[in-house]
Amino acid sequence: MKRIEVIVKNTSDFVSEEQIEGFQSLVSNAHEMTLNKTGKGNEFLGWVELPSEIDQPLLADIESAAKKLADISDIFVVIGIGGSYLGARAVIEALKHNFDFLLAREKRQKPFVVYAGQNISGDYLSDLMNVLDDRDYSLAVISKSGTTTEPAIAFRLLKTHLENKYGKAGAQERIVAITDREKGALKQLSNNEGYKTYIVPDDVGGRYSVLTPVGLLPIAVAGFDIRQLVEGAKHMQKMLAASSTIETNPAALYVAARNALYNSGKGIEVMVNYLPGLYYFTEWWKQLFGESEGKEGKGIFPAGVSNTTDLHSMGQYIQDGERNIFETVLSVGKTKHELKVPFDKDDLDSLNYISGKNIHEVNQKAEIGTTLAHVDGGVPNIQILIPEINEYYLGQLIYFFEFGCALSGYTLGINPFDQPGVEAYKVNMFALLKKKGFEKQTEDLYKRLDN
Ligand code: PA5
Repeated sequence: MKRIEVIVKNTSDFVSEEQIEGFQSLVSNAHEMTLNKTGKGNEFLGWVELPSEIDQPLLADIESAAKKLADISDIFVVIGIGGSYLGARAVIEALKHNFDFLLAREKRQKPFVVYAGQNISGDYLSDLMNVLDDRDYSLAVISKSGTTTEPAIAFRLLKTHLENKYGKAGAQERIVAITDREKGALKQLSNNEGYKTYIVPDDVGGRYSVLTPVGLLPIAVAGFDIRQLVEGAKHMQKMLAASSTIETNPAALYVAARNALYNSGKGIEVMVNYLPGLYYFTEWWKQLFGESEGKEGKGIFPAGVSNTTDLHSMGQYIQDGERNIFETVLSVGKTKHELKVPFDKDDLDSLNYISGKNIHEVNQKAEIGTTLAHVDGGVPNIQILIPEINEYYLGQLIYFFEFGCALSGYTLGINPFDQPGVEAYKVNMFALLKKKGFEKQTEDLYKRLDN
């Protein structure tokens, strides 16, 4: 079975092989800390064995719940934010028909998945409820803590909307809650209301939870093969656990190369994709690395571009702007469809020189040309080769980046599993909204705003 590969040859003008190899011992230590659970945040390492230990009855239960929800819904709303949202969206958007929202229901077979609770926009939620007024729908409310403000607002609105539409009993069969085993308001509410619930394991943090019901239920409702996703992750788990050397462990090589580049002054990593369906995969990756590594005044800033679209906007900066960037390119071997550039007898657009070529081949030439131009312009490049976009390789890719993120965080000397910095905005928001318990901060902040 093929697997994803990491190629670092386009970093050689910027960091030497010795500089990359110089990270081997730090990476090997990080590897040991991750597998033996001896590093910082080791209470959140449950994701490491998740693919090989996933419970078969749980997978079957998710598939059957997903089928029931799909059968009664035109639309499935996933309510969640951060790690309780991005993993599912990354996989669904990568696999779905690009225009599924315009396909007739019979052609779609599965519900159209939409998202809520990932922002605090009243317009977004009003428009959503407007659409849901005359469509059959069901929802998953996903929050490990069960207390996150954004999804809580969205759920409060949609719960009432569902109850008004289908009655209490009807709403109950259309709501699934995915939350902590015991703690949190959502768990209590689910018990009170009798919702079907799935558990987010205690030892798996939000952004590492895509292979738990957090990601698996929405992905299954959208009609994709969660067993293949887990299978791909399992393949990667086995390979990454076997060795820590950069010659045989692609995550170790990725981590050594990106940290060597970081040490040489490249503080921004731009993930580059050439397929629009991968936009949310980049968003998931940005969260994974940004929230895991950006601490204690350290960390590579994760950014993203979608080419060739962004070559006509951000391409200028990447080619020619400040030289503190490196790129990591998701390089996809083949696409689902073979679509050829048509021949035109008048050739007014001068495209006949590529007529008959598969459009993906044209895209690949754009990718290679861009990579070389950027290297010439001072932007090194790590390439991740992905044979094709399907559940199996997405599973590999997810586990690859999760493991790489743990290794990289430990290499950097931080705890890759907490997010203390996220609290600061929440405290201010609660204080400004005059939440009970934040009286002192409320007073201070309003004084500060008055000055
Ligand atoms: O990775 C994380 O831990 C965060 O991004 C969380 O997933 C996010 O804040 C949502 O948290 P919760 O699932 O508790 O609502």
